[in-house]
Amino acid sequence: MQILIFNDPLSLANACADRITDLIARKPDAVLGLATGASPVGTYAELIRRYEAGKVSFRSVRTFNLDEYCDLPKADPNSYNSFMWDKLFGHVDIPAENVHIPDGNAPDLAAQCEAYDQMIRDAGGIDLQLLGIGRNGHIGFNEPADAFTKGTHIAALTESTIEANSKYFTENPMPKSAITMGVGSIFAAKSIILIATGKKKAEAIRNTVCGDISPSRCPASILQLHPDVTLLLDPEAAALLKTS
Ligand code: GLP
Repeated sequence: MQILIFNDPLSLANACADRITDLIARKPDAVLGLATGASPVGTYAELIRRYEAGKVSFRSVRTFNLDEYCDLPKADPNSYNSFMWDKLFGHVDIPAENVHIPDGNAPDLAAQCEAYDQMIRDAGGIDLQLLGIGRNGHIGFNEPADAFTKGTHIAALTESTIEANSKYFTENPMPKSAITMGVGSIFAAKSIILIATGKKKAEAIRNTVCGDISPSRCPASILQLHPDVTLLLDPEAAALLKTS
């Protein structure tokens, strides 16, 4: 696990954008696994800047988002679909058919989960997976549980996650379940970048880096076993890591 600590959010976003644009330069039809939440927003803004400056094109890039709320209309401002088009896709040249976001309103959710995993396999797997992390160590919406999840599935959200994310739901109550790629789907990515900032993430980062590999204590702890993981942190999120 490579751990990089940045004193300012712009340098962190730049470092993350560098990895993504380097990959696209090497492989123009790269498969990106993308995340929502506050953590990747600076990176997406930097990718838009680079696209506008003619330094990168998303024309052949394919993307798979980690997760989406269930029972929330696709066009709702709080859907992850709206988030991604607002923060990235709507500002770059990616064709809509190359964008994949799980459908939390599918009439047959089990079939939607299977179809999503199949689409990832058909695309040749994820080259680079971008992750944030929940305060309880969740990745995607893989909450602490007795076992690591495998493929895309429906997840019941925990109180900790509902408390953290409900600030966005000012008009309607926050959904209590979501469709999410599994820990197994995330782990299958060739390369993984996890972004965490702020002191509320410090404990989850400590458990990710030096805790027991435990699905109930910290789902992200499985990343200790992955051969190519980079953590991009600010000093607050890194505060509980030993420095020597
Ligand atoms: C949500 C998302 C995760 C995200 C996490 C952290 O629950 N499902 O994919 O990583 O929150 O969000 P933030 O970056 O806003 O702290």
